[in-house]
Amino acid sequence: MKRIAVLVSGGGTNLQALIDAQKSGIIRSGEISLVIANNADAYALTRAANAGIASEVVLKKQLGSQAAFEEKIKELLTAYAIDVIVLAGFMSILSESFTSCYPKRILNVHPSLIPSFCGEGFYGLRVHQAALDYGVKVTGATVHFVNEIPDGGEIILQKAVEIQPGDTPEILQKRVMEQAEWKILPAAVEQVCSAM
Ligand code: GAR
Repeated sequence: MKRIAVLVSGGGTNLQALIDAQKSGIIRSGEISLVIANNADAYALTRAANAGIASEVVLKKQLGSQAAFEEKIKELLTAYAIDVIVLAGFMSILSESFTSCYPKRILNVHPSLIPSFCGEGFYGLRVHQAALDYGVKVTGATVHFVNEIPDGGEIILQKAVEIQPGDTPEILQKRVMEQAEWKILPAAVEQVCSAM
């Protein structure tokens, strides 16, 4: 069993999808051993507690710098003997000095079909707003390995989702989560854990 850490910032619906996938056996080659939040108010922390998963809060403001923030996360990953790191709605870009320590060990879920609507500044509802502004008729989600290029690592899984007339960023976000993110993230985690 690989030991998985999930890094979160907010609501944690992707974390919930991972917890549910572990319960239902979709994830069977790894176990979620730690949740790290960069926001003390993240509802994802409640989801972790409800599932009996250890959690830690790491605040960049308190630590004073990006380097100290990443060092603290690294310490926790070592302390919990983590093998695989999943960024699930983690709204902080990790530097090369962090990502280079875990080659092909960090996964991220992004709410578009990379290479569209991705990179620095594209996160959360902004991604869906950009897709609607552009007028694309198909969007989706991508799970990829994380390297030093934001949203630039090797793609593991993607799933397309249709845009409907009258979509708002909120409506589209929900459809992309339900039809794509909550399915491909657990599938990709199992794929990576089982291949390690
Ligand atoms: C998800 O849509 C995720 O793909 C996106 O933020 C949302 C988090 O929701 N991530 C990014 O935009 C990263 N660039 P959640 O907290 O409910 O999982």
